[in-house]
Amino acid sequence: MLTTVLSHRQLSPGYYRIVLQPPAGTPRPRAGQFFMVHVSPSNDPLLRRPFSLHDIYDDGSFALLYRVVGKGTALLSHVQVDDTLDVLGPLGNGFETIQTGITHILVGGGIGTAPLMGLSREIKRTDPTGRVEVFLGGRGEGDLLCGGDFELLEGVTLSQATEDGSCGLRGYVTESLEAFLKGHTGPSVIYTCGPTPMMREVARIAAVHNVPCYVSMEEHMGCGMGACLGCVVPIRSGNGDEFEYKRACVEGPVFRSEEVMWGAQ
Ligand SMILES: Cc1cc2nc3c(=O)[nH]c(=O)nc-3n(C[C@H](O)[C@H](O)[C@H](O)COP(=O)(O)OP(=O)(O)OC[C@H]3O[C@@H](n4cnc5c(N)ncnc54)[C@H](O)[C@@H]3O)c2cc1C
Ligand code: FES
Repeated sequence: MLTTVLSHRQLSPGYYRIVLQPPAGTPRPRAGQFFMVHVSPSNDPLLRRPFSLHDIYDDGSFALLYRVVGKGTALLSHVQVDDTLDVLGPLGNGFETIQTGITHILVGGGIGTAPLMGLSREIKRTDPTGRVEVFLGGRGEGDLLCGGDFELLEGVTLSQATEDGSCGLRGYVTESLEAFLKGHTGPSVIYTCGPTPMMREVARIAAVHNVPCYVSMEEHMGCGMGACLGCVVPIRSGNGDEFEYKRACVEGPVFRSEEVMWGAQ
């Protein structure tokens, strides 16, 4: 579909938020779904790049949050307001239907924070009195994204951690999560997105504390439509070490953490 760029701005060095207006009648995306974006008006690069739904607004426009890491994202950063962007989606399964009356724990590492903003809004809509605990982590202050936006949401508590101690607690975001869970009782669910080692540690902590956990796997993607098998994730298929590969773009990108064979990646 052809979308129109409504706004595009740098949040911190290398991190951008772009807001797109899709054509009327486009299905409303769910938190955890993603879009394949054609980042340049030419055929170079040929392959679209995947980006999670970051936020969605009442008028149907939606935001992507991205970090410049290579050619495609560098080209995307030059797109201007009123430009047209060719976008495929929404794609993928998104986060599981949100339960009510529980504590929702969101854990984001760096750009992995992107899908958690829309998710926190979806949770507040579905479970207005529910407790939402957001844990954000990054190397330094510049990698902590959208803290102020999360704090604007009623009933959301924010904890931040940086590896260099420049903002929030010094250390890994997973240490803050573990400390919280040690003092927490009552039903909870964890949603996480970020670097694989971080999600793997979140999955371990969730298992120790017996909390259901959903991970959004940001694998490399070719087609985003199930055809190229470039995005497969090893998913447990029995009680032992057996697994099968599932496509993150179709069967994911969100999986239950205990289904993922972290060691086989
Ligand atoms: C489902 C999904 C959702 C995503 N959501 C977001 C998002 O919301 N915001 C965002 O900034 N990024 C997101 N990504 C990652 C994003 O797609 C890549 O950063 C982007 O495709 C890089 O394109 P490029 O041309 O700039 O970099 P390239 O030139 O293709 O690569 C530059 C460097 O980045 C590495 N890289 C590329 N893709 C990935 C990846 N998926 N994981 C880890 N390293 C990668 C390459 O190995 C290389 O070292 C998502 C990926 C997936 C699969
Ligand atoms: S990206 Fe091609 S099958 Fe998933």
